[in-house]
Amino acid sequence: ETKRVTIDAQKPEYEWIQEGAKLIREGKLVALPTETVYGLGANAIDAEACQEIFRVKGRPQDNPLIAHISDLDMAKKLTGHWTPQAALCAEQFWPGPLTLVLEKTDLVPDVVSGGLGTVGIRMPNHPVALQLIQEAGVPIAAPSANLSGKPSPTKGSHVWKDLKGKIPLILDAGACSVGVESTVLDLTGEVPIILRPGGVTKEQLEEVLGEVAIDHPSEQQAPKAPGMKYRHYAPKGDLTLLIGERAKVIRKMVEEIRKGQSRLKKVGILCTLESAAGLHYQLPDLLYVLGSENNPAEVAGNLYEGLRLCDEQGMDIILAEGVSDKGLGFAIMNRLIKASGQKVLRV
Ligand code: TXA
Ligand code: MG
Repeated sequence: ETKRVTIDAQKPEYEWIQEGAKLIREGKLVALPTETVYGLGANAIDAEACQEIFRVKGRPQDNPLIAHISDLDMAKKLTGHWTPQAALCAEQFWPGPLTLVLEKTDLVPDVVSGGLGTVGIRMPNHPVALQLIQEAGVPIAAPSANLSGKPSPTKGSHVWKDLKGKIPLILDAGACSVGVESTVLDLTGEVPIILRPGGVTKEQLEEVLGEVAIDHPSEQQAPKAPGMKYRHYAPKGDLTLLIGERAKVIRKMVEEIRKGQSRLKKVGILCTLESAAGLHYQLPDLLYVLGSENNPAEVAGNLYEGLRLCDEQGMDIILAEGVSDKGLGFAIMNRLIKASGQKVLRV
């Protein structure tokens, strides 16, 4: 039996924080909102509780969990190497959508680190998450609160659909403000490496840290963030990502809508506000506006909702419009490329 309670995002009701914290301390799982996506939380220093996360999500065992903290003292207990770079990042970006990968201490169970010698640490920028961690008095390990393979949940209703009946409590604080996951930054080497692009941009990191590299996995080299090797964020429908001039993207979409309809396939479109007008009259089975091309934050916020709607409404074919890969656009494009299973069409 899963209890789903509505909690105020700005002034969380203490009653629910207490109930959630009690469950965490008892080794149970609680779904909690963060500014990026909802997390499926457990006591990060309780190996058995964290093991339950893997079971509930159907998550591969080698994929490490992020430990969420509410103050710097907690972070320093999880890593023996609180480096000057880590301190700088924490000062500039915490609380916020940045996960720092650092050497771990023995306090971090192997199940959390996926057997690696490192741990991902993040201070989320959400009153509910921060108060829950503080009240529990322990760091909270939390992957995104979706079933493995599904798009991350950005609303309480997404968590409910994936996890109802599987966990005791969902703290529902409405929509997440950022909408894509945190940036995962490896600080164990000389040059910081972005393992997963996310809510904090490469440009922002460079301003604070100087040179920042990006992990580019290849066939020879597996990604350094184990989670990046899985086909994530993917809807059931067959998604193609279209990149190019607007007029050409629209023309290609129109062509594909016609083709799909003649084969009795359901065709869904994910596009920018600017392109939507040109597609309206083509009557796709779903036309979902991600947001304005001039507002990547809006596009990020709507991305997973759009992908989930395609599934819920049974789209066989999905055509998504690419956006600029500058700033936050880089994380958006990373997710869209993954959702397409590398099916990217330049028109
Ligand atoms: O925004 C977020 O990061 C959300 C919210 C809930 O905080 N969490 C999230 O967790 O996206 P998850 O488990 O879905 O993704 C974590 C990613 C995975 O790709 C994982 O492989 C990587 O971070 N990761 C975690 N710890 C790591 C470590 N020690 N070394 C390398 N990669 C790590
Ligand atoms: Mg995830």
